[in-house]
Amino acid sequence: MQQKITELFKEKFSGTPSVYCSPGRVNLIGDHTDYNNGFVLPAAIDKAIYVAIRPNGTQKIDLYSADYGKSVSFTLDDPKPEELWASFVYGISKELINMGVNVGGFDAVFGGDVPLGAGLSSSAALESAFGYALNHQFGGSLDRRQIARAGQLTEHNYIGVMCGIMDQFASLFGEKDTLIKLDCRSLEFEAVPLRTDGYRILLVDSMVKHSLASSEYNVRRRQCEEGVAAIAKHEPGVETLRDVTGTMLEKYGHEMDPVSLKRCRFVLEENRRVEEGCEALKRGDMTTFGRNMNGSHFGLSRQYEVSCPELDFIADFAQNYEGVLGARMMGGGFGGCVIHLIEEGAHDSYRDAVQKAYKEKYAVEPRIIDVIIGEGSRRLV
Ligand code: GLA
Repeated sequence: MQQKITELFKEKFSGTPSVYCSPGRVNLIGDHTDYNNGFVLPAAIDKAIYVAIRPNGTQKIDLYSADYGKSVSFTLDDPKPEELWASFVYGISKELINMGVNVGGFDAVFGGDVPLGAGLSSSAALESAFGYALNHQFGGSLDRRQIARAGQLTEHNYIGVMCGIMDQFASLFGEKDTLIKLDCRSLEFEAVPLRTDGYRILLVDSMVKHSLASSEYNVRRRQCEEGVAAIAKHEPGVETLRDVTGTMLEKYGHEMDPVSLKRCRFVLEENRRVEEGCEALKRGDMTTFGRNMNGSHFGLSRQYEVSCPELDFIADFAQNYEGVLGARMMGGGFGGCVIHLIEEGAHDSYRDAVQKAYKEKYAVEPRIIDVIIGEGSRRLV
């Protein structure tokens, strides 16, 4: 991919580019907790967005998307470009400028191998790749946390998804064989090594595109905020769900909309599962970790209601399969992948069995992705 992008750059533009890349991510446990200031456990993967880039000394941004085979040109004084992929670049450039980076015109070609619409955060990879590259190329002094924040603000201000910071953070901070236990309140993180002896992480992509995701996502966020507001009336120290305890929920829950109460309960329980899961991982107890993954799926499906029948089918099939330690839908929901922790010895037979069962049920071939945990954003050339 790096070579393809570089060659395309030389074809479309002049000069020799610098090349950067930023990966997609998986999340082992802890979904819909990040924008509630809770805990998540993501990791960067070995699939990434690559950017070949060179400042051009003008105010013009000339982009070529290798994946769409299309060019777009604009300046940052123009309105947001129509193409979604170009608005990501427009947005991150503007957010970097707001943070003090002197972003000028540039030529860039980009493309990648992060599967689109599978919930592997190809958009965060795109924001992080450009955020990292532009900061570097235009002499910015932002650190990785600030670049992650700029990516998140791009989603809020230019794409309309009120996401948390998990995806951009994982893309920027990833390390080989390492899970990132991120506290989304302090943005402090702990590197949790993943045991690779005898275990594998596997994704089964339902092939359902998460089209409901952005509207329902914002609804979930609002429901959590409504819950917090009801409690904050009595408990002045409470600003987010992270400050809310189970006792507070029991005490003031009746003043909330029952749907909000259900959403809030899920978030508190999911945070607890991340903590318990991480402790289990650290002592090598993969069974307990897997049990927490299963609990996470149940909560996302029944309490938070962001699953779909296809994801439930895969998770249910997996949870009843000998050798699968845990399985849960991953990410925003309404489609995309189920992530599995599986014993090495069960991997091949499970893969064949789930493919067959899913195809029989839905007449669609699910995509199987073996996860390799890789490095975060970096300059390649
Ligand atoms: C999407 C968002 C993240 C996070 C997950 C759910 O991937 O971009 O910030 O909220 O959904 O955990």
